[in-house]
Amino acid sequence: MKKRIGILTGGGDCPGLNAVIRGVVKGALIKYGWEVIGIEDGFDGLLSPEKCRPMTLDSVRGILPRGGTILGSTNWGNPFHYPVSGGDTVEYIDISGQVVDNIGKLGLSALIVVGGDGSLKIAQELISKGVPIVGVPKTIDNDLLETDVTFGYNTALETATDALDKLHTTAESHHRVMVLEVMGRYAGWIALESGIAGGADVILIPEIPFDVAGICRAIQERKARGGRFSIIVAAEGAFPKGGKRVVKVAGKSGGAVERLGGVGDYVAREVGRCLDMDTRVTVLGHLQRGGSPSTFDRCLGSRFGVKALELIERGEFGRMVCLRGRSIKSVSITRAIRRLKLVNPNGEMVQAAEDLGIMMGR
Ligand code: F6P
Repeated sequence: MKKRIGILTGGGDCPGLNAVIRGVVKGALIKYGWEVIGIEDGFDGLLSPEKCRPMTLDSVRGILPRGGTILGSTNWGNPFHYPVSGGDTVEYIDISGQVVDNIGKLGLSALIVVGGDGSLKIAQELISKGVPIVGVPKTIDNDLLETDVTFGYNTALETATDALDKLHTTAESHHRVMVLEVMGRYAGWIALESGIAGGADVILIPEIPFDVAGICRAIQERKARGGRFSIIVAAEGAFPKGGKRVVKVAGKSGGAVERLGGVGDYVAREVGRCLDMDTRVTVLGHLQRGGSPSTFDRCLGSRFGVKALELIERGEFGRMVCLRGRSIKSVSITRAIRRLKLVNPNGEMVQAAEDLGIMMGR
């Protein structure tokens, strides 16, 4: 009997997912002679047999440059906390038993879960129920512990830096303050690195609550030095000192995920009040998650994919592949999900930004 493994992609998509899928399918079929079942739409696919399909070399041909995931994904539908709507109300039930049964019925001897901290937490709970899982970390937010970087992040940075380059020329022509709101959830990595690369004047990150008066002072000082425009990068999770995060949808105790967004407008409004300058806001949004993956992300995704197979071959379940320096290693999933990897407000990268004269909100 040929060994059969499954692969699913969970949570928000990101560039490079298809490189992982391709790496897994090619390695499994060519090197190990295993079968691969592609599970559609994250853990949800494990509830419906029609969403599970055999993967062939044809299924992954030509997908390296494609963004998104050919398997589809969802960032809802945790099987341990599954929403069932009953008219006006939503009830949450545990259907993980069904997922475990279906994994058995599919004859999977291992499951590869490609996901961020949410999907890997679900994976860990399934591991506790005896499911042999190997994790592959993905997120544009780069907020997963135990890996130097996740694939998808590099492409998102390129998109954000490109937006900053474009905003510079129009800001300069109109002598405006331009605010760019970028993603990143509760971590400021995208804002910080794109802000440095894109020559921002102010970078606001969740790890450093910002002071509006200080931002206005910095822009005025820049104006006095001849800089008639300013660029502010605000991470969606950034918030003012003593204030709250700006959210589009509040998280509910029932399990709905908090949706961030709106801090760009807040900053533009507050800065506009104290400065005699025109302000405009650009919310980069899901553009950061789309597009063709960068060379770095394609390569990292492919290396993660084949490393996941090596872990399965060795029976090293409950582990996640990761990047350490320039090498691909592995670490236990429990270590990777214990908290988010945030920017160190006193670390080298923030210090470098401040040495470059960038106002970091404090
Ligand atoms: O985690 C990735 C991410 O893109 C975050 O940066 C962002 O806050 C969130 O997902 C957006 O999620 P959704 O696709 O549900 O709008």
